[in-house]
Amino acid sequence: MTIETGRNATQSTSASSPKSDWRTVLGQYPTGITILTSIDQAGGPVGMIVGTFNSVSVDPPLVGFFAQRTSTTFPHIERSGRFRASVLGAGHESLCRDFFASPVRDRFTGDIWDYDEHGIPRLKDAVAWFDATIHSILPAGDHVMALGEVSNLGLGPRTGGMPLLFLNGGYGSFTIPRMEFNLDDLGGRLRHATVLGDAVEQLATDLGVECSLSTVVRDEVVVLTAADARSPHVGMCFPFAAPMAPAFAAWCTPDLRHTWVENARHLIGRVDTELIEDTLALVRENGYSISFGHTMSEHFDAVVSSAHHDRAVLAPLWEALTTEYAGYRRHPEPAEHATLIQVPVFGDDRCVALELVVSGFGPRTPRNRFREIVAGSLHCSARLTAMIGGSAPQDYAPSLP
Ligand SMILES: Cc1cc2nc3c(=O)[nH]c(=O)nc-3n(C[C@H](O)[C@H](O)[C@H](O)COP(=O)(O)O)c2cc1C
Repeated sequence: MTIETGRNATQSTSASSPKSDWRTVLGQYPTGITILTSIDQAGGPVGMIVGTFNSVSVDPPLVGFFAQRTSTTFPHIERSGRFRASVLGAGHESLCRDFFASPVRDRFTGDIWDYDEHGIPRLKDAVAWFDATIHSILPAGDHVMALGEVSNLGLGPRTGGMPLLFLNGGYGSFTIPRMEFNLDDLGGRLRHATVLGDAVEQLATDLGVECSLSTVVRDEVVVLTAADARSPHVGMCFPFAAPMAPAFAAWCTPDLRHTWVENARHLIGRVDTELIEDTLALVRENGYSISFGHTMSEHFDAVVSSAHHDRAVLAPLWEALTTEYAGYRRHPEPAEHATLIQVPVFGDDRCVALELVVSGFGPRTPRNRFREIVAGSLHCSARLTAMIGGSAPQDYAPSLP
């Protein structure tokens, strides 16, 4: 067997371990994650995680999976002659990890399982589920191939979100882009940004800060203009993913907010829903958003220069932002922590059309100076909203720190 490991390279498996090559190459193929359950001889629940669950035939309705010959669960499935399959959602990553790491007797705790008349559990909020009886078992090297005839199947309540995926040794999920992209709309926003450039420059001069205007295009944040026309930030873009650019997410359509959350799930493999809701509540309460500490400046260039928004570059930034935010929540003193504020400029649909980004101060800005920066930025954003014919949502009531 030979394995191609590069454009021109053909590497014989004799040079490296065939097993690790096998895993590396097949690791590029994504799978879903399913918990297969059955009962042992005493009627107690048993189960195993598999990535090989698949559909096989419609008529008769067959599903299949491959079980390692060393599996201690599979002999119970074979003996009982039946199993249930619970397809995991993106929100089940920690459940999956815990299930995999736990001893068999601890795998079925908590009120998350439904039991059938045989005592076989199924995850209540599985993305999809199947009940099957064993149809046939075939030898397959160090695995066996098991086929099950489906007697019942269904969809879960979807509280676990999109299906959980496994790729390259890590968990992730699938994102469906939902936003419509309208080129005319981008043209309009670019024209706005050009017209608003003077006001942004004025703000930067008056306050002695750095200012720029960004917008969201499809699922990316794009910097349209900056007070310093030579700013290297103009034209750069980065993923519109929580918790970045929360001012856009605080006042936008439910679809765009969904994109913001799902992009984060895609980038770091999971999202802390409570933290996200908390962030949005704080932004709405203040009327603008705050970034804390040096994370942005330290990691931002790496993010921007990562043309393909490489997960390896982005994930640490997202993690650090999340940690900094949690730190701020414990000691909520904005002037002390803030290094950047983002103020909404609203369009005629009362959603955020542009974001005024003000930086070049802090952390540990004197409180009066921080208050002056926030007041000036809010005043400027209100002006910009009026200039583009937009209006703020009725309940928008920004407050000074
Ligand atoms: C993401 C993932 C996918 C897996 N896929 C399979 C699989 O398809 N077949 C299999 O036998 N074991 C698979 N395993 C390992 C099993 O979950 C299990 O640990 C192993 O088969 C040992 O079996 P036992 O717990 O029944 O003794 C997978 C584990 C993980 C974390």
